[in-house]
Amino acid sequence: MQSPDPYFEQGRTRIDAFLDRVLPPENRRPAVIHRAMRYSVFAGGKRFRPLLCFAAAEACGSPADVALAPAAALELLHTYTLIHDDLPAMDNDDLRRGQPTCHRAFGEANAILAGDALLTLAFGVLAGTDVPPPRSVADLIHELAAAGGSEGVIGGQAEDMAHEGQALSEEALTYIHTHKTGDLIRASVRLGAMAAGARDETLSTLTGIADAIGLAFQIADDLLNATGDAGRLGKATGTDEARGKQTFVALYGIEESKARARTLIDDATRALDTLPGHTDPMARLAGYTIERFH
Ligand code: IPE
Ligand code: IPE
Ligand code: MG
Ligand code: MG
Repeated sequence: MQSPDPYFEQGRTRIDAFLDRVLPPENRRPAVIHRAMRYSVFAGGKRFRPLLCFAAAEACGSPADVALAPAAALELLHTYTLIHDDLPAMDNDDLRRGQPTCHRAFGEANAILAGDALLTLAFGVLAGTDVPPPRSVADLIHELAAAGGSEGVIGGQAEDMAHEGQALSEEALTYIHTHKTGDLIRASVRLGAMAAGARDETLSTLTGIADAIGLAFQIADDLLNATGDAGRLGKATGTDEARGKQTFVALYGIEESKARARTLIDDATRALDTLPGHTDPMARLAGYTIERFH
């Protein structure tokens, strides 16, 4: 995805146009909050979660557009997690998506409120979608609420913070990664599949694939923090070690972390063969997860 892939560029254009429609205009009161929301959403994220959501719908045999509202809800919620993750009380970062973090640009109080508003808007957008049987809109809302809640992203973030500077067991590290990153990636795939009317068996195969991609994605994030280039990543590197964060790299070293991520993606790619629809987008997104650290 680093080199422009026309298929992914098309997906990004589609999701960005929809996000532009659902986000309140910058000049509408409270303008500073609407500016901050748009600033962070359009700062230049990879749109990995919306693309996964589209790819899941296609893997189930539907056009990507059936997953537009869930894809937008995922990116809105994800952007809120980034704004709050960067706050002084959390990772205290200055750079995000290649630009000053939201609290740097708009002040801490506005960044907190912009994050809260994005989270709330995510559920508003999801509530307005149409879902074919056998699922309902309530199922989608429930799925996103579980992924973003205290037993999802918040749980992972809470333990990530609580363990700074401590040596971690593999179990504790897995908990953190599964929840802070994996749960939203799992929800991205599941929401796309649910919006496409997936049956239980397809949903369960896709969930396994999503979990492998989610873990590989976080291993890549850890590897890039240790070895990547801040200019290309649009956020600071070397910060995990400086803050005493426990990561895959700290626990297993660089080569073993790479090997684990590759195995996860190889297994996920093989599992795609059993799905009913067009699986090439999902295969390319899975491949991208590990290409990032080559
Ligand atoms: C960064 O997510 C935070 C993690 C959960 C690892 P992304 O790497 O998807 O960030 P953006 O959306 O492209 O900025
Ligand atoms: C961010 O995790 C995860 C969430 C925002 C839920 P990190 O703190 O490891 O990610 P970066 O490196 O700041 O993007
Ligand atoms: Mg963090
Ligand atoms: Mg962070």
